[in-house]
Amino acid sequence: MVGDRGGQQLPAGVFVHPLGLCESSTVGAGTRVWAFAHVVDGAVIGTDCNVCDGAYVEYGAVVGDRVTIKNQVMIFEGVTVEDEVFLGPGVAFTNDLRPRAAIKRGADALLPTLVRTGATLGARVTVVCGVTIGANAFIGAGAVVVADVPDHAFVVGNPGRVRGWVCSCGERLDDSLRCACGRRYQRSGDGLAATDGLADAGAVPAAATTEA
Ligand SMILES: CC(C)(COP(=O)(O)OP(=O)(O)OC[C@H]1O[C@@H](n2cnc3c(N)ncnc32)[C@H](O)[C@@H]1OP(=O)(O)O)[C@@H](O)C(=O)NCCC(=O)NCCS
Ligand SMILES: [Zn+2]
Repeated sequence: MVGDRGGQQLPAGVFVHPLGLCESSTVGAGTRVWAFAHVVDGAVIGTDCNVCDGAYVEYGAVVGDRVTIKNQVMIFEGVTVEDEVFLGPGVAFTNDLRPRAAIKRGADALLPTLVRTGATLGARVTVVCGVTIGANAFIGAGAVVVADVPDHAFVVGNPGRVRGWVCSCGERLDDSLRCACGRRYQRSGDGLAATDGLADAGAVPAAATTEA
């Protein structure tokens, strides 16, 4: 069942500000689309997301559940954002590695980008297309991501470089890959994995401690 607002057919349970534009029918319940945000027909957005003022979500973009899309974020075709990702103000994705105004490329020429569950991208992060940003990674404000980012990596700068590791709670890990919140990690592939099965940011460590 859909709602109707001045000709816009809104998916059930979706709030759209009177000055927002949601043309997509594939938006989950509980998602809010605020003023001057534009969700294009064919964009997919999950449940309980926040699409803040001035954001743009294009046809072919896929966004999971409980994602924060702050003001003026640009999400284009070919970009997939998994659940509980935080996209800070002005985050810019790309999908054409070598754009030329005079050359029109088809969708098959676009390079896909994936942002895994729980990652944070700070304000004005730019993501050059074709990369995967790992689960729970933290990209500092203003970074330019030009390569794959491992799970739980802390990345800053232009070009973005891994400078350390972050907990699913958002704090930096010490040299022993422990967090003050009690979570502990170990190397796993290129990134980290929780040793105690508490990688989920919502989980509360049983024995939260700051001891070394
Ligand atoms: C990343 C961040 C959390 C700082 O993390 P931190 O763990 O406190 O980092 P530190 O201050 O210990 O810095 C570690 C190093 O990274 C550098 N650094 C930190 N943030 C940086 C950034 N955004 N860009 C470039 N370098 C940065 C520091 O200068 C420092 O470098 P040094 O070791 O050469 O001195 C913060 O800078 C940031 O970008 N937060 C995101 C804010 C945001 O965009 N919010 C959006 C919602 S409003
Ligand atoms: Zn922590």
